[in-house]
Amino acid sequence: MPGTPFRRYRAHKTWPGRAAVARSVARVGVRRYLRRIMSDEKLPILLVPDPRLRLKARPVAEGDGDAVRALAPRMLATMYAAPGIGLAAPQIGSDLRLIVLDCGGKDTPEPMVLVNPEIIAASKELGVREEGCLSLPGLYADVQRPQRIKLRWRELDGTRKEMEADGLLGVCMQHEIDHLNGVLFVDHLSALKRNMMLRKLAKELKLKARDADGE
Ligand code: NI
Repeated sequence: MPGTPFRRYRAHKTWPGRAAVARSVARVGVRRYLRRIMSDEKLPILLVPDPRLRLKARPVAEGDGDAVRALAPRMLATMYAAPGIGLAAPQIGSDLRLIVLDCGGKDTPEPMVLVNPEIIAASKELGVREEGCLSLPGLYADVQRPQRIKLRWRELDGTRKEMEADGLLGVCMQHEIDHLNGVLFVDHLSALKRNMMLRKLAKELKLKARDADGE
């Protein structure tokens, strides 16, 4: 991704905390706020069985700053348009350890951009939640994961951050970090269930492609 300058996004060299986002949203409204932080340009999302979804992404290094600042607003635009609550760089064909997510509500957006996120602690207690994925459209399944995690990442300006997360946010972070390691949510299911779901999806995508060809 070329390092195209993105004027509006410069405001978020350091990602604002939830309270700051909420203040901005209260001031300008949800739609205008989101327009400020995302690009007009959406990117195509890779679908299984694209082999790029199975690669391990590489850490963002100092020289990647421009690429990351160009990519993040496009990833946010792609995620919101899908619509989805999380997107990892490998899903749009990038090999960088970068994720975007928003587990806030429709009227209370909580966009986050996480560079080099890593789980530094996970609870022994597990939780189960239904997951889906923009790279596996239409597939949903209950997935078991640690209930609570401690996450470390870098801001766009390199500042180190840490937080604990559980519930939907904790699941979303774990799901997106899996993508950076070439892991999909169906990998957490039994081989039988996974193969059944993937076969079903392959059939649907084939039908869709045939319909599109016929038009
Ligand atoms: Ni996903």
